[in-house]
Amino acid sequence: MVVKLPQTTRLLGVDHEEVFIGLLQKTALGEMPLDADNVSKQANRILDSLYSQYRANTAGVSVSFRELCSGWTWAKRSDIYTHLIHSYPAKMLVYIPILFLSTEKYASRDDSILDVFAGSATVLLESIINPVFPRDAYGTEINPLARLIAKVKTTPIDPDNAERLAIQVAQSARSTSEETLPAYSKLDYWYSEKIKQKLGKLAWAINNAETDVDTRDFLLVCFSVTTKKLSYADPDIPVPVRLKCKTPTDGRPSVERRNALVKQLLAKIDSSDPISVFFNVANANVHRLRMLCSALKGKTTKAKIIGADARSLLDAPMGSKGHFDQTRAKPVQDKSFSLIVTSPPYGTAQKYIRSTRLEMLWLGLATDTQVRALERQMVGTEVTAESSLKAVVATGFQPIDEKLEQISMKNLSKACLESIYFRDMTTAIKEMHRVLRPNGTLVMVIGDNTACGLTVPNHYYIRLIAESVGFREELLIKDPVRSRGMMTKRHETAGMVEDDWVTVLRKGN
Ligand SMILES: C[S@@+](CC[C@H](N)C(=O)[O-])C[C@H]1O[C@@H](n2cnc3c(N)ncnc32)[C@H](O)[C@@H]1O
Repeated sequence: MVVKLPQTTRLLGVDHEEVFIGLLQKTALGEMPLDADNVSKQANRILDSLYSQYRANTAGVSVSFRELCSGWTWAKRSDIYTHLIHSYPAKMLVYIPILFLSTEKYASRDDSILDVFAGSATVLLESIINPVFPRDAYGTEINPLARLIAKVKTTPIDPDNAERLAIQVAQSARSTSEETLPAYSKLDYWYSEKIKQKLGKLAWAINNAETDVDTRDFLLVCFSVTTKKLSYADPDIPVPVRLKCKTPTDGRPSVERRNALVKQLLAKIDSSDPISVFFNVANANVHRLRMLCSALKGKTTKAKIIGADARSLLDAPMGSKGHFDQTRAKPVQDKSFSLIVTSPPYGTAQKYIRSTRLEMLWLGLATDTQVRALERQMVGTEVTAESSLKAVVATGFQPIDEKLEQISMKNLSKACLESIYFRDMTTAIKEMHRVLRPNGTLVMVIGDNTACGLTVPNHYYIRLIAESVGFREELLIKDPVRSRGMMTKRHETAGMVEDDWVTVLRKGN
């Protein structure tokens, strides 16, 4: 079948006018040779066009990254490689790193890439598998579950062995009388007794399987998916909220329809066999692992999570379950990267820790008390000491402080939290500036917010902060957000994230 390229791609001058869908799977999986020169020329042409549009209008170039990359059959992304090994809130649109990594404009082919808010490792994965410029990639991330997912997503362990171990774990969980349950008083609120017990047996079987650290981490990720699927948490809401039927006050058909779906889902969860669910998840993930191994065949690139906090970039060896050996941590060297591609929290919009709390407890990544402590360490936290919510601390940036003043008139605590966010981002941006080489580039993906009904243009404020630290904005792009990794409607006063802003910031010499 012959498919015409979308209009945007042709406008941007990409060579190929036609692509063959039959070749798509093979090139995407790296089985077909690619003309590296041609790909990087096309990436440069797309970027040149964006730069010239930006020079004409510095308010930002409106574009769809998906369409920009649609001429590249090898870059077609859906359930491919290990991208969907585990869900994660607010994942980065994959076509953004694909474009910036398929050129030597920002980093030479021998450079390594850094993502300081690595989340579930979209950037790290795309960096190591890039068919034109495969590069080592490093990440820091504060959420231990995200660190575990990131590690598993980018580690090409033997799929046959993983498959064998998944079978063994399932058998062992069926026959054991042991179980490992998290010490969490509200577990019964989220799981039925039957499901809870079987999950406990699976946890025991994984923790006691005779295997290496990497394969156990893979099994833990599969187990994490299972605990999420079988909880009573509403799958449409990022933070755990128990699935329940609403009382139809005025007999509205939408409420009735939703209630019918909720009943169906609850019945499905109650009749599930957790060990079979785990086994199916593991099978699907082994298949993804095979795709990862195939993409990495002949490549020596590696990804590594080296630290936790973007506000203080440290390099420490990571052991099992995403834990660091802090005693061996040392600061990431000054001027050691040419390119950082990253996406910080969009203000206080997402609850990364709360939305992954149940999984962290099941996996033994953190206790309930540690989860609370982690929430306080997040950039964009809403959990902080009462004393920090009594007066707004100025950020030193006039437009930001004026906005904080407006927010504080409606809600003082909210204004204080926004101030903490921008001050934390200032610290993180200074750190990124420190570890970038002279002339290095920071590609930052961020969304705007609303607080108490007021628009908070994060993309503009981040630029102000970055420029004060020594960066210069050289490109600004906006791409409309489709529903992606639960980046959907939040509570009413927080509004919707409508666009992803991609700002390209250059460090001075
Ligand atoms: C927008 S998400 C990144 C998503 C990622 N690009 C992906 O595709 O999965 C922002 C991430 O920043 C992390 N984060 C929040 N505070 C942090 C901090 N102080 N240091 C490092 N990471 C932090 C969150 O846990 C979350 O994973």
